[in-house]
Amino acid sequence: MSATRLACLHGADWSLVLECPDGGAPIWRYLGPRVDPAGLPPLTELRAPATFSLDEPVAMTALPVAGLGWFGPSALVLRANDGAALPVAFGEWTISETADALAITGHDRQAGITATLELRRLPGDAIEAVTKLENRSGAPMLVDSLASALLPLPAGLATTIAWRGRHNAELVETREALPAHGWHRETRLGIPGHSGPAGTYLLGQGAGWHAGLAVAVQLAWSGDARLAIERDEDGGHVLSAAALLQPGELRLAAGDAHETPPLLLAISGQGRGGAMAAMHDAVRVRIDWPGGAMRPRPVHLNSWEACYFTHDEQRIRQLAEAAARIGIERFILDDGWFRGRNDDRAGLGDWVPDPAKYPNGLAPIADHVHALGMEFGLWVEPEMVNPDSDLYRAHPDWVLHLPGQPRPTARHQLVLDLRRADVRDHLFAVLDGLLRSARIDYLKWDHNRALAPAGGAAQVAGTYGLLARLRAAHPQLEIESCAGGGGRSDAGIARFTHRFWTSDNVDALARIGIQRGFLAFLPPELMGAHVGASPSHATGRHQSLDFRAAIAAQGHFGVELDPDAMAPEEQAALAGWIAWWKRWRAVIHGGQVQMGEGGDGLVWQAQGNGREWLLWVIRAEHGSSRFAQPIPLPFAAGRDWQVRLERHAGQSGVLTPRAGAAFKAMRTEPRRFTGSWLAGAGLPLPALAAQAALIFHLEAVP
Ligand code: GLA
Repeated sequence: MSATRLACLHGADWSLVLECPDGGAPIWRYLGPRVDPAGLPPLTELRAPATFSLDEPVAMTALPVAGLGWFGPSALVLRANDGAALPVAFGEWTISETADALAITGHDRQAGITATLELRRLPGDAIEAVTKLENRSGAPMLVDSLASALLPLPAGLATTIAWRGRHNAELVETREALPAHGWHRETRLGIPGHSGPAGTYLLGQGAGWHAGLAVAVQLAWSGDARLAIERDEDGGHVLSAAALLQPGELRLAAGDAHETPPLLLAISGQGRGGAMAAMHDAVRVRIDWPGGAMRPRPVHLNSWEACYFTHDEQRIRQLAEAAARIGIERFILDDGWFRGRNDDRAGLGDWVPDPAKYPNGLAPIADHVHALGMEFGLWVEPEMVNPDSDLYRAHPDWVLHLPGQPRPTARHQLVLDLRRADVRDHLFAVLDGLLRSARIDYLKWDHNRALAPAGGAAQVAGTYGLLARLRAAHPQLEIESCAGGGGRSDAGIARFTHRFWTSDNVDALARIGIQRGFLAFLPPELMGAHVGASPSHATGRHQSLDFRAAIAAQGHFGVELDPDAMAPEEQAALAGWIAWWKRWRAVIHGGQVQMGEGGDGLVWQAQGNGREWLLWVIRAEHGSSRFAQPIPLPFAAGRDWQVRLERHAGQSGVLTPRAGAAFKAMRTEPRRFTGSWLAGAGLPLPALAAQAALIFHLEAVP
């Protein structure tokens, strides 16, 4: 028996194993739950010849390419400068291994290319995969496609969870059996869109929130992408993930290199919750916080739903004063502050304060906000221009367009061509000047349309470049990514930003699902979540202030209304929630999120760490059981807990005079439960009416 040389990388929960035949291509043997591959025979000694097959079948290599007997998806497709196909055949391989990373390089001396698949173990146990391509030939070449990675998926996956959505209804979860042939998701909006990032969760047979095999996938990319799962020749599945390239857009000059966006992959034996925790940590290492670490997330007030386009210096001063009175820490002046911007038909592109509304510019407002003890944030939409703007009148050629074709507007706006260096330079100069003109600590960076025509990967790279340049020039600046709510919420842009506007829909009922979808890919400290007015501007539904606040408290908390328009008791109650949230934000952020479903339509979510959790139990709809069923909390197993009822929102049995004495007592005195009881039998609950939530505090008994 011959020895098999292997290249491996192990996480706490997973292993990846490639076989490295002498001088030959490294081939995939395994990716899945952690294993010890010692003693593994070479693949050639395991496979019998099959009918209607190559005499020497080609297995899946680290960088599989079409043309020489591999019939699965190809890691790269190239063309020579004259447009002719450029076949790739890697003849030599080099492998570099460290404890946390594996880099596999294929060299094709004839075609003059080198490609490297880099696999890295991230803090928190996710895998990051990136592919780099170098043109070592003497001539330019065209890259038609380049996958971030092609990976074999673990056996036994049965279900795909994916999300779909629209403006005001982001991230609706869908669940399907993994089809026998395959599954794919391709996006062409130019931004990821309201269905969320290019990502999916794959579950093994019987896997759930807390147990079983789960794989979470996210391409860290803010443009068009393709994720595909194809059946391979062994009956397994191959995952491919790639940023989409427009025809001809990626030309690699001789000596140039190109690197794909990273694919983030989490494999867990602890179900969806385990994969989600690893995904959150994978995103956290990408965030570039001013000063190097996240500081407590300041409570926001955003002016949009308080006044839309109708404001001026006086109005905003008043709103800021009302904000300061209830404990707001960062005040954001939304759309409508710049020249000619009285509605959404004009002004985008002309980033100077409107002389009628802000005759003294923004500095006095920014100073006033700071004097009130708050940071000052400003809304911008730099990548856009209204045809009715001075910028467009001066530079009609600066937008994405097809020569001689109509220029379709959306929300009356066109998209600037960020592939052009002169456009990027102009935007940098304008934004840099704006940030120097007043004490602006924060930008809400919006993007309110899909791209038509497409800008391709280079448009995304242009935006990333602009963001990076601005961050370098203003290292203390924080940025929020927004695209009509959650149209650009992904781990790609998270490299440059610090918050996402999760949805323009702040209706608390709608937010339950939207926020759960968001948390599949991004951690809660990045999730903008506001208390809006009732009735909700997006849905017309009425909800109690407590319910709206309880749901917003799961994320980066804020307010999207005018506190002065509230009754005094409501205003005091909102101030109470703000003070409460400040006390708990350190537990809500930076740790783990656990989720589950109780009986009879209840959902729950816990945020915290091994010692301390806040637990939301939420009833959206009217229930059908006479008494409330306890909810089992698998994460509580292994130690005892002191459980206190921190907040209740909406109508619950806690409030009735006769019932729920135990829950009333738990509001002040914690009650001790064993971990086995909480995990097995479950936390007892009072009856909850529709649109009600309870927030418990669980503290581990030392
Ligand atoms: C988008 C955003 C909103 C608001 C408006 C302003 O819709 O999602 O929050 O900023 O633009 O026009």
